Amino acid sequence: MKNYSVRMIRENMENIPQFPIPEGFAIRNYRPDEGHIWTRIQKAAEPYIDIDDELFVREFKQDFLAMEDRSFFLTTDTGEEIGTITAWWQPDMDGKTWGQIHWVAVHPDYQGRGLSKPMMSIAMARLKQSHERCFLGTSTGRIAAVKVYLDFGFTPDLSREHSQEAWTEVASVIKHPILRTYGFLK
Ligand SMILES: CC(C)(COP(=O)(O)OP(=O)(O)OC[C@H]1O[C@@H](n2cnc3c(N)ncnc32)[C@H](O)[C@@H]1OP(=O)(O)O)[C@@H](O)C(=O)NCCC(=O)NCCS
Repeated sequence: MKNYSVRMIRENMENIPQFPIPEGFAIRNYRPDEGHIWTRIQKAAEPYIDIDDELFVREFKQDFLAMEDRSFFLTTDTGEEIGTITAWWQPDMDGKTWGQIHWVAVHPDYQGRGLSKPMMSIAMARLKQSHERCFLGTSTGRIAAVKVYLDFGFTPDLSREHSQEAWTEVASVIKHPILRTYGFLK
């Protein structure tokens, strides 16, 4: 499969799916100077992008304080951080402010147990406090991620380059009702 970049959008913050955190896990906010924890999880999970030690600072230096309010770690019951999600935002995208689901990752040792959905419920609730709409960037090789985002009501942004090829490819592996409404499933 090719790994096309895609954008997904959600024009409102209504009816956010609620997935409780399973027993044995917890979610907590990011605390000051925990970029190294974020980097550790991203390095372990990220399949395509080279995660270097400076990426965290490059991505979030515009507002480290906001991270304490908008970024979350999923932990085990012993306090080990095994997942990360950030409820970020873009102040001016086509003249509007958009919430953004940003840098979602679950450590490979803990993938396949549905742990990203409870993280998404928390991050989407945080976005709803500040924003009327949200978006995210991902890519077609990240099938588990795309499935989760479709389940959370994000839809393909078809204005993006290569979106026909990209979403046809996604539809070949995920038979999702949203893709049917967009005509990608027969
Ligand atoms: C994205 C990520 C956080 C999801 O982790 P996860 O919650 O453990 O994912 P799961 O394995 O539980 O899969 C999520 C959903 O995708 C489905 N899925 C996973 N692989 C699939 C595949 N190959 N084909 C079809 N569906 C698939 C699962 O069945 C599940 O759906 P369900 O809830 O209906 O059962 C994790 O894969 C990750 O960290 N990836 C690397 C980093 C990344 O790409 N992040 C996204 C950045 S945009």
